[in-house]
Amino acid sequence: MSETVATAPAKLILAGEHAVLHGHPAIALPFPALLTRVTVAPGQDTLVSDRYLDRMVALDDMSPGPLAPLCEALREVRMWLGRMDRAWQPVDVAIHGDIPPGSGLGSSASVLVAAIRAAFAHHGSQPPVALVRQMATRAESLAHGTSSGLDPATVSAPGPIQFIRGHAPIDLRIGRPFTLVVADSGRAVATRDQVARVQARLDCDAAARLVLDRFEGLASRIGEALEYGELEALGLALDDTHEALVTLGASDDSLDGLVRVARAAGALGAKLSGAGGGGCVLALAPDGDGEAIAAAWRDLGCPHVWTQTYPEPA
Ligand code: PMV
Repeated sequence: MSETVATAPAKLILAGEHAVLHGHPAIALPFPALLTRVTVAPGQDTLVSDRYLDRMVALDDMSPGPLAPLCEALREVRMWLGRMDRAWQPVDVAIHGDIPPGSGLGSSASVLVAAIRAAFAHHGSQPPVALVRQMATRAESLAHGTSSGLDPATVSAPGPIQFIRGHAPIDLRIGRPFTLVVADSGRAVATRDQVARVQARLDCDAAARLVLDRFEGLASRIGEALEYGELEALGLALDDTHEALVTLGASDDSLDGLVRVARAAGALGAKLSGAGGGGCVLALAPDGDGEAIAAAWRDLGCPHVWTQTYPEPA
């Protein structure tokens, strides 16, 4: 049996991070500028990842660690294959990718989805996308403490989705092409810690609890603006979403500064994306041209700036 390769993209959230954990809708989309690539080859049931200092573990290793969720997901694939009367062939799984961990770009979901796809494909099986999503969500809960399922749903979707926890995602159309510019603040944050920080704010701050109810309207505005191609309206809704995230305590001075600089450089709208407290910000470029925004962010010292046009050019 030869080796099998599968990929999965990073993701961006346009609306609903944190609020999605409380049952509110989110809008998110894959970010194919960054990819995870997983290779499965006949071997000894070991996992090797260049993301964690060339760490290597055995598939049946039950000890906690950065690769524990992936081991769990692959053991579940083995169990499913057994149920389908397909014998598991011992494999070596290698993970490579350019998605910075802890940056709100969905790196753990991307690794899980790519690995689950590769392991099934290596055994001649193509699982339904809903099964891949469920397996990745269960495993991601190990990494994040809890996972709404938003990241696994987004990195396994063909384009933008509307997502409500516990429901199948709804695919959204793109009414008019648009360009997003994304900057990494260079500060990695564990989603688990940032979710706990926002929850602590919700527990003691009535204004934060009240703002949660605004996410329903923000997600509809963003979903409709995407589908009808109303880019000015999309920009305004992204700005309003950032302000709501500020009230939730998900942002900080440095991310707010990056958002302001993007708007001054002509962005139609800008917001943090992901759990916040570090990680990434995104901006909607005017007339598809993100160069001024990218230059402004590079001047501020952002270690990575990417530009992505949607829909992806064929
Ligand atoms: O892991 P991140 O930074 O992409 O955050 C995901 C979004 C959260 O709402 C904060 C967590 C979740 O599981 O939905």
